[in-house]
Amino acid sequence: MTKAGVIGWPIAHSRSPMIHGFWLRQFGIDGSYERIPVEPGAADAFFEGLPRSGLAGVNVTLPHKETAARHVRRLDPVAADLGAANTLWIEDGELAGTNTDVHGFLANLDEGLPGWDAPAGLALVIGAGGAARAVVRGLLDRGFDVALANRTVARAEAVAAAAPGRVRPVGLDALDRLAGEARVIVNTTSAGLHGEGDLPLDFDRIGSESIITDIVYVPLETPVLARARARGLRTVDGLGMLLHQAVPGFEKWFGVRPEVTPELRELVVADLS
Ligand code: ATR
Repeated sequence: MTKAGVIGWPIAHSRSPMIHGFWLRQFGIDGSYERIPVEPGAADAFFEGLPRSGLAGVNVTLPHKETAARHVRRLDPVAADLGAANTLWIEDGELAGTNTDVHGFLANLDEGLPGWDAPAGLALVIGAGGAARAVVRGLLDRGFDVALANRTVARAEAVAAAAPGRVRPVGLDALDRLAGEARVIVNTTSAGLHGEGDLPLDFDRIGSESIITDIVYVPLETPVLARARARGLRTVDGLGMLLHQAVPGFEKWFGVRPEVTPELRELVVADLS
């Protein structure tokens, strides 16, 4: 039996077991995918022992993605650039890894709004946490220039340093000015979710051809998406990023490339609500 899992802390609310369990059943594979709680202090030892653990590999979630990247001997260029790995497997006895958040972000938009990236122009990314790094990388790969707006400008500057010239770090006071220029707007913050601290963004300034997406998927319709829809703008919710980022790992461990189907989405949506 092939075994895989997801490590994080806390890990109880991870939907990854539901996603991989769906595919294991669908293909009738003799395999398992479990939650593996690993406290921050135990992460180094976990990754050290992983090649001899009997696991085919793991997904890595908060707060271990950076630690994982440091332990992987065969780190692919995407994960090396981001300094974070979320999908690990064993290759000739050595730990190998990548970061599939970039793939997940792009595949979600490709599926939700085919042709969303043509012509590339300016993209506005709001927020500068770990997930924003993957979003920025994906947008650069598709030819966009990126304005990166964050409440704490120093964090935006740190992310921008990875791609000098093509990522412009700004504060949230620049949102209204940039909203009219950007073809694609991505929210990566939790602003407004708990009824406070809404983004200082006037949605009336956004061009009618612009696309709005959010990487937050709880709730599925975030305040940003709700306001964009009320304006009649095209939107894509964040759940597809979670579903699509799981695809490459499943293929590595279990040998079949799975698909993100409406049935899988429904299963996860039902669990979220
Ligand atoms: P992750 O790494 O998962 O993306 P994170 O590091 O907690 O998450 O980052 C959350 C992002 O949301 C940050 O960009 C944060 O801004 P700061 O860097 O200034 O903290 C942003 N954020 C959270 N709440 C916000 C709010 N009320 N208004 C504006 N930005 C907010």
